[in-house]
Amino acid sequence: MKMMKRFVVLGSSLAVLACLLGGPLQAAEQDKAESKAKARVMPIKVSPYQGRPPVNADTVAEGKKIYDRSCVYCHGLNGDGKGPVAYFLSRDTAPHPRDFTAGIYKFRSTISGELPLDEDLFRTVTFGVPGFMPSFTGLDPADRWKVVYYIKSLYPDFEGSEPELVPVVGGPAPSTAGSIHNGYQVYQEFKCWECHGGGGQGDGKKSIDLKDDWDFLLPPRNLTMRTSFKNGSRPEDLYRTIMAGLDGGAMPSYSDFFEGEEDKVWDLINYILSLSSETTK
Ligand code: HEC
Ligand code: HEC
Repeated sequence: MKMMKRFVVLGSSLAVLACLLGGPLQAAEQDKAESKAKARVMPIKVSPYQGRPPVNADTVAEGKKIYDRSCVYCHGLNGDGKGPVAYFLSRDTAPHPRDFTAGIYKFRSTISGELPLDEDLFRTVTFGVPGFMPSFTGLDPADRWKVVYYIKSLYPDFEGSEPELVPVVGGPAPSTAGSIHNGYQVYQEFKCWECHGGGGQGDGKKSIDLKDDWDFLLPPRNLTMRTSFKNGSRPEDLYRTIMAGLDGGAMPSYSDFFEGEEDKVWDLINYILSLSSETTK
């Protein structure tokens, strides 16, 4: 910003000077300056954003090719989550790679029990699942869509599904001491501590034997490590986690409880985020 200002000042004093000199000298200087400015423009060719490809037999088939290259090791040849790497990733504990033939999804903007939106799947493929699944930002966005179409094709109920969305009411609240304090009270009132512990470290009294739907031990998240949040750690991501829940595991959905009191959720989010910083590992 400072630089900009300096340039503006410099520019206007040059203009004054040019006016004083006047005449042909001014025109010649101007030409020179213009060609210099033109030469400085870098010829970067920006390819237009490749939008979302259509869903058809071809794009699903291309998605399968990408799947066979990038996902099969964990999610298995048939998409049932039984790829060879699954064994090394987390043999006796959760999470195991998702079984795409089961239709159970954690990271959704839809109410508990519903299928995810395509956008939810695209987000998971793009950012991965911290600690368990790599991000695939290295894949072209169009290829990420195609692989999404392919995994959807493994669960026929996706066809024509119109899942109900969790309504987003309000928005992130400024992280003031008052809001964090209110959030702390919500944390107490809604008994998040039963699983996540009084200090948010994932050591609540119910934490010991929580299991996922596939009968593997799945401890609650340590809320003092936001970098480990699988569903994202921006306030809007946390809203999704709390309201939609993470189906297939023990993290409940709270959308019914907070209906009409959504501002409490934004305070709760400020409280959770106050337990850690961007750089907490
Ligand atoms: C290194 C192993 C690994 C690779 C490679 C991998 N995944 Fe995963 N994936 C996982 C694990 C583990 C989970 C379960 C995470 C959990 O439940 O917390 C998962 C979950 C998912 C989910 C479910 C998200 C939800 O809402 O429940 C999707 C979708 C997914 N993976 C897509 C893909 C796609 C597409 C690829 C390839 C482009 C891929 N994964 C590659 C390990 C992997
Ligand atoms: C019955 C136990 C239980 C209760 C009660 C509970 N949680 Fe959880 N929570 C879990 C489990 C288990 C996970 C990890 C799920 C997973 O990895 O799939 C989790 C994960 C989370 C995460 C991390 C999600 C991510 O992106 O990784 C947040 C944030 C969270 N819970 C917030 C809350 C809040 C806020 C409350 C209270 C309103 C709450 N939880 C109540 C069990 C619980």
